[in-house]
Amino acid sequence: MRAAQSAADDPQEPSEPPTPRARATTVLILNGPNLGRLGAREPEIYGSATLGDIAAACAALGASLGLSVDLRQTDDEAELIGWIHEAAELRLPVVLNPAAFTHYSYALRDALAMRTAPLVEVHLSNPAARETFRHTSVVSAVADGTIAGFGLHSYELALRAVVRLLGR
Ligand code: DQA
Repeated sequence: MRAAQSAADDPQEPSEPPTPRARATTVLILNGPNLGRLGAREPEIYGSATLGDIAAACAALGASLGLSVDLRQTDDEAELIGWIHEAAELRLPVVLNPAAFTHYSYALRDALAMRTAPLVEVHLSNPAARETFRHTSVVSAVADGTIAGFGLHSYELALRAVVRLLGR
């Protein structure tokens, strides 16, 4: 018989003292050009939800998933790339709607290749069902996966995918 047994070996004993609520993981939700105009922008394609609506929905879902959501939008490729560098340095998961940059920005693609945490590409519409130039994504190959065609819900599904990718 063993003289001593660690608490971790004994199913009767709690292996660790109860910890205070784990700190929420921050997820960057980054949005490219023209997405600041959602609501007014081609609502028959992109729906009526504004970026503010998307931010609110993601914040609410994020809270229930233990994620802290930081949603940003820019029309500027350099600014977007700067945020991707920040995510790589801080090892932050990213949900990214690259908007039109999806289809041609090798600079964005190269920045994303430096990532160190989950990356989910999202689109409100389904680019595969639209004009031919939208059928190519230069981003998809460096993402963990892509969610497209579900409007605001694409973002919610992407947050759930991040949780899976984080192994939680
Ligand atoms: C989009 C699809 C892109 O083709 C387009 O350029 C956008 C939005 C989407 O969310 O459906 O700006 O990324």
